[in-house]
Amino acid sequence: MIFGRVKPLDAILATAEKKSLHRTLGWFQLTLFGIGCVIGTGIFVLTAAGAQKAGPGLMLAFAIAGAICIVAALCYAEIAAMIPVAGSAYTYTYSTMGELLAWTVGWALILEYAVAASAVAVGWSGYFTGTILNQFMGIHLPAWLSAAPLALGGAPGGFINLPAIVIALLITWLLMIGTTESARVNAVLVAIKVTALSAFVALTLPSDYFSTDRFNPFLPAGVFGGFGTGVGAVGAAATIFFAYVGFDAVSTAAEETKNPQRNVPIGLIGSLLFCTVFYILVAAGAIGTIGGQPIMGPNGIPFPAGSEELARQCALPQHKDALVCSGEALAHVLRVIGWSGVGNLLGIAAFVALPSVILILMFGQTRIFFVMSRDGLLPERLSTVHPKWKTPHIVTAMTGVGVAFAAAFLPVGQLADIANAGTLYAFMMVAIAVMILRRTAAHQPRSFRTPVLWLVGPLTILGCVFLFFNLPSAAMLVLPVWGAIGLVIYFGYSRSHSHLGRGIVEVPEAH
Ligand code: ALA
Repeated sequence: MIFGRVKPLDAILATAEKKSLHRTLGWFQLTLFGIGCVIGTGIFVLTAAGAQKAGPGLMLAFAIAGAICIVAALCYAEIAAMIPVAGSAYTYTYSTMGELLAWTVGWALILEYAVAASAVAVGWSGYFTGTILNQFMGIHLPAWLSAAPLALGGAPGGFINLPAIVIALLITWLLMIGTTESARVNAVLVAIKVTALSAFVALTLPSDYFSTDRFNPFLPAGVFGGFGTGVGAVGAAATIFFAYVGFDAVSTAAEETKNPQRNVPIGLIGSLLFCTVFYILVAAGAIGTIGGQPIMGPNGIPFPAGSEELARQCALPQHKDALVCSGEALAHVLRVIGWSGVGNLLGIAAFVALPSVILILMFGQTRIFFVMSRDGLLPERLSTVHPKWKTPHIVTAMTGVGVAFAAAFLPVGQLADIANAGTLYAFMMVAIAVMILRRTAAHQPRSFRTPVLWLVGPLTILGCVFLFFNLPSAAMLVLPVWGAIGLVIYFGYSRSHSHLGRGIVEVPEAH
């Protein structure tokens, strides 16, 4: 029963053929697209949470998370070029492991896309309140309007994150009226982000403030901080993994890529390698100049990032300049070392560029819902396309309200950890699906084959499981609880409404 109702690959490919797109993208556009999806709140904001978990070992955390994403990307590249249809990990699982597991993946992707969009909205809110309101307009938005409640890990006095709600709803509206990001806008935003990060590296690494002493001790919380604590270098890797989320969007463009055998892997691996190197340099610059040692609790373990205790510590005057306390980490570093003007420009870059990451993530979410409802697993009404806007406006509106709600009441680090839990599950299932398809569809043409899959596949699975078990326990728990809610919906509604279950499957016409 678990592996029942496998959607025939032929049917999926037939659907894909019907809407085959022009192959216009080359490796350079794909790489730019990948960088556009990937660079966001992870590096601009979560650098602070990462340092609180690992200290200077944050650099190692970026390398670990980047390496796991690269092997996962190699798996994505094969399956994306082979089954180039919407729905990504959900569709791949449907065609290999059946409907029930596909449902769980689709359900987990809500964490990857919608919750990640909430996290980026909260990250954006930090730069908006810090740079735009505070620095430029001299307006101090009170904590109760700009942060999650302390009891949930927000700031003292926090209640609701109003800017995060506003940006989430604004993007929802843009998506509803049919805005998608054009390649040209993406290229401009990538240039803005890369320029901002390059300026950061150029001003910090060679600066007079830079001292190698600040990297000592390198691993104040060890490599493994302990199960469920989410600290140590690997605990930080599990959080900072968020900085790489979104690269799978490149795989969804496989269908529009010229020579996908060559260009899809270059786009995926190229954007990831580029970001990994950049992230490590940025982390080095931040830690080497203002230091990145965690604030330790009485037991010698860092206070959990996003915890009430840490928020109280950060409110103390002696921690006012600490990297681990900043809501706009990179701009903060530049201000502390005397480059306030450039820090503010970097803040503007984040303010301008982060909304596009929210847009891409929310767009991905609406398309997953759309495909699930087209398969009958969610009410078909949800996939109704608006007559004028030509967008799935109902799912878009629902997604937007959900994203805004989560962004209103949860801090960025916790949202990122929850998003990571769902993403790791989806990545693991993709690796399994690629390995299954090598057996069940051995002769199906593949425009890209994952090299040494017998090694890369298991490494991806192990890497994902490993990072998952290094998340803080609360984030780990969200996945089974969320999964249980999903199963209730599946057995209460989706199973009996499934098109496949009811025998409605598109099959290729006989030639
Ligand atoms: N990787 C994306 C970010 O860091 C989701 O914002």
